[in-house]
Amino acid sequence: MPAAASPVDEAAEALARGELVGMPTETVYGLAARADDDASVARIFAAKGRPIDHPLIVHVGDAAAAAVFAGELPGSARRLMAAFWPGPLTLIVPRKPGVASAAAAGQASIGLRMPSHPMALALLRAAAARGVPGVAAPSANRFGRVSPTRAEHVRAEFGPGLRVLDGGPCEVGIESAIVDCTRDPPALLRPGQIPRARLEAALGQRLAERGDDSPRASGTLPTHYAPKAAVRILGSAELARCVAVPPGPADRGVAVYSRLVPVEGWQHRRMPEEADVAAQELFDALRGFDEAGAETIWLEQPPADAAWEGVRDRVMRAAAAAEVPGR
Ligand code: TXA
Ligand code: MG
Repeated sequence: MPAAASPVDEAAEALARGELVGMPTETVYGLAARADDDASVARIFAAKGRPIDHPLIVHVGDAAAAAVFAGELPGSARRLMAAFWPGPLTLIVPRKPGVASAAAAGQASIGLRMPSHPMALALLRAAAARGVPGVAAPSANRFGRVSPTRAEHVRAEFGPGLRVLDGGPCEVGIESAIVDCTRDPPALLRPGQIPRARLEAALGQRLAERGDDSPRASGTLPTHYAPKAAVRILGSAELARCVAVPPGPADRGVAVYSRLVPVEGWQHRRMPEEADVAAQELFDALRGFDEAGAETIWLEQPPADAAWEGVRDRVMRAAAAAEVPGR
């Protein structure tokens, strides 16, 4: 009798057939489809409700597979790959004409990443063995919502019809840093866990800020990553004043997420004091507040230092979403 196929092999078969798979990575869970087939990729856009002009990241199982999707690699991309792959870094590079055009949303560039999560690598390699050179995968949430960091988040977003590989809670917890290597100097389109200074050290040059001419990146829209509750960022002193008295009738529905300020009597969760740990649990915390029925989240301003750049970016976007009328 043949040995039973492993969940990873079954998922690789599904990808090869053109189906969608919920894929764990070290950053967040992805909604994966084979990148070399536009019809498969179209299923991602449909399932997420994502506008089809927002390009997806293509995940590869080794650096050599990047050559399937990329034109000539800029020196900056080579240096960053050597320093940080596999890992939480996406590189925007020139796209090989005619390849993965749906995943790239028709742009002349393509976003590539080699994740480090062992189950992601196993899936990408098992898929490659079945003729799938790379896997397009945006975060496995509906468009504009908080990224999933646990398999159960993905199931909550897409229901039981989606095959999800459970790789445990994500270690990084916020999406990959994105560096646009089609420009010189390269630009940081989205901060992640890897500090800007480490990227610059590997590059040997300063990163540019993303400019108005930067390619469209939905993860860089000001209102991305929003929980259902409205997020308000408060300085520590202001928050301390707000929670000094017990919640009144007008404060029903308020949840507090604070790092330093002690909180009693309010619905509260403690934000970890280390940036990496705070990143790891940020999206789970926001989802948790939604599940608890919070209408407003008072979030203590994260520290200003470099290690917190990725967390600051995500909470600012979540807060910006609360200011959009109709949300
Ligand atoms: O950590 C991550 O990057 C996760 C995991 C699953 O790998 N993926 C992720 O994908 O966050 P998504 O689609 O939610 O965000 C990808 C970002 C988007 O902002 C997209 O617009 C940008 O990457 N992007 C992809 N290709 C691009 C391109 N050619 N030019 C500019 N931006 C691009
Ligand atoms: Mg996303």
